[in-house]
Parts: sequence; structure tokens; C-alpha cells
Amino acid sequence: MTETLLFSPMTIRGVSLKNRIVVPPMHQYSAEKGFPTDWHLMNAGKFAAGGAGLVVVESTKVERRGCGTVGDLGIWDDKFVAPLGRLVQFIKQQNAVAGIQLGHSGRKARASRPWEGDRPLQRTPDIEDWEAWQPVAPSAIAHSEKWPVPRALETGEVKDLVQAWGQAARRAHEAGFDVLELHGAHGYLVHEFLSERSNQRTDEYGGSEAGRMRFLIEVTEAVRTHWPDHKPLFVRLSVEDNAGWGPEQSARLARILKAKGVDVIDCSSGGISEAAPILGKEIKFGYQVPLSEHVRRQAEIMTMAVGLIIHGDQAEQILRDGQADLIAVGREILNNPNWPMDAALKLGVEGPFRNVPPQFGYWLGTRAKRGFGTRPSTWQNGLQEADQAASNS
Ligand SMILES: Cc1cc2nc3c(=O)[nH]c(=O)nc-3n(C[C@H](O)[C@H](O)[C@H](O)COP(=O)(O)O)c2cc1C
Repeated sequence: MTETLLFSPMTIRGVSLKNRIVVPPMHQYSAEKGFPTDWHLMNAGKFAAGGAGLVVVESTKVERRGCGTVGDLGIWDDKFVAPLGRLVQFIKQQNAVAGIQLGHSGRKARASRPWEGDRPLQRTPDIEDWEAWQPVAPSAIAHSEKWPVPRALETGEVKDLVQAWGQAARRAHEAGFDVLELHGAHGYLVHEFLSERSNQRTDEYGGSEAGRMRFLIEVTEAVRTHWPDHKPLFVRLSVEDNAGWGPEQSARLARILKAKGVDVIDCSSGGISEAAPILGKEIKFGYQVPLSEHVRRQAEIMTMAVGLIIHGDQAEQILRDGQADLIAVGREILNNPNWPMDAALKLGVEGPFRNVPPQFGYWLGTRAKRGFGTRPSTWQNGLQEADQAASNS
């Protein structure tokens, strides 16, 4: 049996993860007026049951104006605490840690769902608060030609927003989440403050690099006053955005955030311009891993690597090479929600079925013992290849 880093437990502050596998936030566009639906329960539930150590619920909006689409989850009011708590409870019952990402879409708010065109939303009579849902941003600069020009936030509104993030953190704690992630990436509000391209403010939230970082730093401070000391805080950054913000700036920011109580930088990229590499348009295994390695080494902070991490041995090598502390598996876990079990089998980890609930783990374990072995359908191409392997062995 192999000892792996991927399946070794890890404690951050007072929270213990059974392994280093994380389901990153993945928007479902399926909320109703900000409330989670059965879809969210099923979605978070299947990943938690699949054996990941940490399941992070999608970008959940700290204010109504921050909703990207009609299907965004909300946490801008206490009424969301109990329904989100239902997701937490189910995730925890599967022996996984429940996390949530807080977000605000900024100038990319009020859009259609990606599969409906990924463009500004067309006004329809059923959207009652169309005017109030006006996209806002640090400056009145559109994301691109196809997007509307947002309204620039007044200084007082920026300060109110800082408090909104703090209140959202309080609600996340009350709902029972144990890990919180702040969405500072992908060209949404926080990233819009960081980027010179989208932030041309002349008040204290713009100008120099320190000025552009101020919003996120104040948000972190507000969040930390409401988010208990024993619970980990992550920040997702577009470590390289191909538009003026890069690994050096990110490492400098990470150092500051660490001093403010951030434990992990989740290292993503892109989103501030249409040309950015978000979702791996470069199509390369582990395309963002070097960004994680850079931040980890330069800022001496824990990092999470994400982006086309597809195979268990790939994930294990990233950890062994010291390029990250946690591994997030996004689209591949959409393809195979039992990815952690699958990876445990392929890496030769002891008790691969112990990671998952006995409702199915027990039966897979007995099948393995009855001479069928542990090779899952993802191991080989099909029956012919499996037969060939058996006759060769
Ligand atoms: C359907 C979908 C929804 C996503 N929603 C979010 C989100 O809410 N917040 C976020 O920071 N990233 C989001 N992402 C990005 C993923 O968290 C992840 O960084 C990205 O998919 C790259 O990792 P992968 O190659 O393992 O999928 C989303 C990705 C997908 C595919």
C-alpha cells in the first residue's frame, strides 16, 4: 500500500481535512431568488459522498447587486442562513468539510447563464428589481464592448460593501460552514479593484498598487472580525490576469493577506479581459500550477492549485514537488464525482473505499475482495482492453 500526500489528513487552524482533495466553487446557476434548491443539495451531496476532503459551495453573493445571473446563490440577508445550513449539514454527514465562496460580480453582474449565451441579460417582466440590479464597479469602465458600462461606486458605497462582506461571513459561520473563501479572481468586483485596467479611482481605493489592494484588505479585515479564529480563510486570486496583474503583485498581496489572517491562496487566473486563460483555454494539464508554486514560495503561504488537474498521480506529484498544499479538481469531478475514490484506487492507497459512505463503499469493497479486483471502468478503455490486461497478468 502506498503512503500518499493526497490522502494524508491536514489541519488548518481548528479544522481537519481527511485528505487534500478540494471541490472548488462551481456555479450552478440554479438558485431561486438567491435561495438554494434541491439541485444544490444533490450537487454538494454527491461531491461530499464522493470522498473529497473539502467541498466549497459556489460563489454566493454578498449583496443583491452582485448577482451575476438570475440563478446566483445569495447570502445578503439572514433569511439565507437556514437553507444554506441544510447543505452544510448534508456535506458534514458525509464526513467532508463544508466551505463556501463569497462573491460579487461587479461589472459582470446581470448576465445570462453561460449556456444561454454568456452576455448581458435581456430585461423581462419577471425581474422585479431590474433598476436596483444595476452593475456597479470601481470605475465606469465596461468589461468589453459587449458589456454595459457599470456605475462607479461612491466612496461611501465601497465602505458599505466592505461591511456587507463581513456580514456575509457572519452568516456563513451561522450556517455552519467551516471554510470560507473570498472570490478575488476572474474579473469580478474584488479583481476589478485590483486591476489598473478596471480601477481608475482617485480616492483611497484606487491609484497606487496599495490603493487598489485596499478594498480586498479591508474586506479581509471585516470578514476576520466575523469569521471565528479557529476557522480557515481562503482567498482566490487571478494570480496572472494577462492584463497588468501578475505573480509578483499576487505574491506581495498574499503576504499582506497572510498577516490579516488568510490561510490559503487559491491560485487561479484570468477573467479581467475576454482573452484570459480562465478555464484552461490554453488546454494544458495543470496550467495554473506554476502560479500556485510561485505564490507559495514567494509569499510563504499555503496554496491551492486548480486547473486541469485530472489524474491522481498528477495531483500527488504537485504536492510532492511542493507546488501546492491542496488540490482542487473542478470539471474532472463533474465528470466523475467519485474521483477521490478512483484516485485512491489508482494510487494504491489502503482502504480506497473507506473514503466514501458505506451505502456504496461497502459493496465496492466486497466486490473487490471477491476476486474481481478494484479496477474501475475509468481504468481501461473497455472490456477488450480489460480482458487483454487480465490475460497478460
Ligand atoms: C460550471 C463551473 C462553475 C464555476 N463557478 C465558479 C465559481 O463560482 N467561483 C469560482 O471562483 N470559480 C468557478 N469556476 C472555476 C472553477 O472553480 C475552476 O477554477 C476551473 O474550472 C478550473 O479548474 P478545472 O480545470 O479543474 O475545472 C467554475 C467552473 C465551472 C466549470
